[in-house]
Amino acid sequence: MSACLIRGRVLTFVAEPQGIDDTASYRYFEDGAVLVRGGKVVDAGDYADISKLAGADVEVADHRPNLVLPGLIDTHLHFPQTQAIASYGAQLLEWLNTYIFVEEQKFAQAAHAADVADRFMDELLSNGTTTAVAYCSVHPESVDAYFTAAEARGMRMIGGKVMMDRNAPDALRDTPQQGYDETKALIERWHGRGRALYAISPRFAITSTPEQMEMSQALVAEHPTCYVQTHLSENHDEIAFATSLYPQAKDYTDIYARYGLLNERMLLGHCIHLSDREISVLAETRSVGVFCPTSNLFLGSGLFDRDRFDKAGARWSVATDVGAGTSFSMLETMDEAYKVLHLRGQKLTPFNSLYRMTLGNARALGLEKQIGSLHAGADADIVVLDSSGKSAMEYRMRTAKSLLEELFILQTMGDDRCVAEVYVAGKPMKAKGKRAAATSRLLENA
Ligand code: GUN
Ligand code: ZN
Repeated sequence: MSACLIRGRVLTFVAEPQGIDDTASYRYFEDGAVLVRGGKVVDAGDYADISKLAGADVEVADHRPNLVLPGLIDTHLHFPQTQAIASYGAQLLEWLNTYIFVEEQKFAQAAHAADVADRFMDELLSNGTTTAVAYCSVHPESVDAYFTAAEARGMRMIGGKVMMDRNAPDALRDTPQQGYDETKALIERWHGRGRALYAISPRFAITSTPEQMEMSQALVAEHPTCYVQTHLSENHDEIAFATSLYPQAKDYTDIYARYGLLNERMLLGHCIHLSDREISVLAETRSVGVFCPTSNLFLGSGLFDRDRFDKAGARWSVATDVGAGTSFSMLETMDEAYKVLHLRGQKLTPFNSLYRMTLGNARALGLEKQIGSLHAGADADIVVLDSSGKSAMEYRMRTAKSLLEELFILQTMGDDRCVAEVYVAGKPMKAKGKRAAATSRLLENA
């Protein structure tokens, strides 16, 4: 089995950084290398040591002076909203009705879903994201398109069919039984096939009747290894509407708790306006609150309060939330995360940002053995970052004196232009994605 030695400045986390320069939380090798064989990391460390482990047939990919990190992870976005980013001028409920529920109807066409799925995966990869958790549309065909495109690229992707049986156009509604049957069939087809993992996806309390919530509860109980994803407490009008539909619930969080949906595999998008009681329920159930800064600013939803999560011992992750989120880039996402927390009087250090995009999000998904760091035996999902990827960055980098400063420049100014390469299970993909896009443009124009 041929091996590849990926050489560069290797950075990988072993723990959550506790302070501005918590050097015990990461491993950094200035002249480092990652040895990859059979899609897995054999080991990572100093080039001088790691190169000795490689056989004569090893291929060397020399990325110096770029940084070599684990592939980035996005824990919440919407694949059918790829072409609806930047839809103007509305807050959540109006935005959903005006733009999103129109856009998602296009996914009844399998060919459209397949085209967007290809573009979506390539967009993730060109931004250095190797694993993501996405909502598909209500149509099972959209889930097939999503996992087919991921499988073609060898990516570890998580996703599922949205279930919604009210407060949406007829063409986007399923019924409780249909949502259950279609989800069940998709789980059988995709969950655990290759690198695919399924997320049971009742969209949110507003678009699911109590009957559909009961069906979701049954699905979660019957498939304990699947993820669950929904939205919680993003916007004041949404909270008022959701709680009016479930008057017996103590609050919005209690709606999901009553249907047994809160567990350590539950990802709850947004979680901005929660009471202390709600955050403590998330902590007790080990559910994950997902911080989506570009989306929260774009829709004017509010400012995530990380310190309250940390104080309560509640878990949280970070995500783009495309298409309310305005970028596929996790670097741009962490730039906005920094600013949101700054407005709250909270600090997000550069090492913590990098940790969150990699090992932190892998832990939120319970996938830290497979992804999120470059330990021996990990999947070889790797990103190569160029801190001088834009001319203004190159100029700024001339004055950078430390790794800390460099990482902050990357997070503040970086985007897909800083992703020099991305490896999926050891295979280089960035150049490939670009070639595929160029070819399809040529064909379109022919
Ligand atoms: N709440 C329910 N659906 C959605 C969605 O598609 N995007 C966002 N941002 N919030 C939601
Ligand atoms: Zn969302």
